[in-house]
Amino acid sequence: MATLDNTSLHLPVENPEAEDFLPLLGTDYVELYVGNAKQAAHYYMSAWGFQPLAYAGLETGLKDRVSYVLQQDKIRLVLTSPLKPGGEINQHINSHGDGVKAIALWVDDAEKSYRETTSRGAESFLEPETFEDENGKVKLSGIHTYGETVHIFVERNEYNGPFLPGYREWNPHYRAEDTGLRYIDHMVGNVGWNEMNKWCEFYAKVMGFAQLVSFDDKDISTEYTALMSKVMSNGNGRIKFPINEPAEGRKKSQIEEYIEFYNGAGVQHMALATNNIIETVTKLRDRGVEFLTVPATYYEDVLDRVGEIDEDLAPLRELGILVDRDDEGYLLQIFTKPILDRPTMFIEIIQRKGAKSFGKGNFKALFESIEREQASRGTL
Ligand SMILES: [Fe+2]
Repeated sequence: MATLDNTSLHLPVENPEAEDFLPLLGTDYVELYVGNAKQAAHYYMSAWGFQPLAYAGLETGLKDRVSYVLQQDKIRLVLTSPLKPGGEINQHINSHGDGVKAIALWVDDAEKSYRETTSRGAESFLEPETFEDENGKVKLSGIHTYGETVHIFVERNEYNGPFLPGYREWNPHYRAEDTGLRYIDHMVGNVGWNEMNKWCEFYAKVMGFAQLVSFDDKDISTEYTALMSKVMSNGNGRIKFPINEPAEGRKKSQIEEYIEFYNGAGVQHMALATNNIIETVTKLRDRGVEFLTVPATYYEDVLDRVGEIDEDLAPLRELGILVDRDDEGYLLQIFTKPILDRPTMFIEIIQRKGAKSFGKGNFKALFESIEREQASRGTL
């Protein structure tokens, strides 16, 4: 449990505006509902370097589902598939394809977290419940957020097992070398037309978050497409949830494309932090992860824009890594192509060198790159 404490490396942006009725210690895990958890687990291990952690399925007494838990430093992923027709997981996959069901948040008091949020208007997903096995107990509760996504509150200070009660250690022969991913920097939600403010208000009112930054369609537009975005953050800055909505442009916004293929609001991307983006992206690319590319011209004037950086430009150009600067430092970032067949979820790799922002200076180059992908899919 102590391994989840990421204060020292997270450079959290303290957000004094936020209220502290819901203290959050970090992201506990992210659960994806997927069509074939066994094969998805292999992908996240072999391509992304996650390590096997825990398993629950027929062998542990479950009848209708199976879950594999993977970990890389402080990032935990749970991949869950149904074993029988019907039910909530099948319905979720049928509607959305593979996607994020739960963003679980690590708390000291799952009961209080539930009470504070539901009393402020959150819709209940899971009433507080204690789960127990020979390794101790965990209390969970949960609320709904945008689309069919939920937040689970995890209170685990009396638990010493590999993950949660009911899971056993998963120790396969196969292990892949990690890729240097450290923690979840932020998780982005895409919501429908005119729904961004509603969901930002939800995070403000129900969870005590405050707005960190806001981007309108003038910040985030190209000649053809646009979107709007606001970043909500909790008080200690460990949890950051940007919320995007589509905006009118001459062609179809990437957010609209997402909403169509995801069949509603959902998680668009997870941003995973590394301490060495060149090494991480080199490994990921060698193992088959596909990234968006920007034109070579991006690198011609990037240093004029961002000033001096520690890295050589050549490997950044070769890998397609983007650079941006704010008042406090700079950041390096890159985005994968969608990691699923539906053009829905992707992953961002980010290395912060002082900067606490989100790469605004890269939006235009990035969205032009996404438009080229949309055009190739016939969805621009
Ligand atoms: Fe991001």
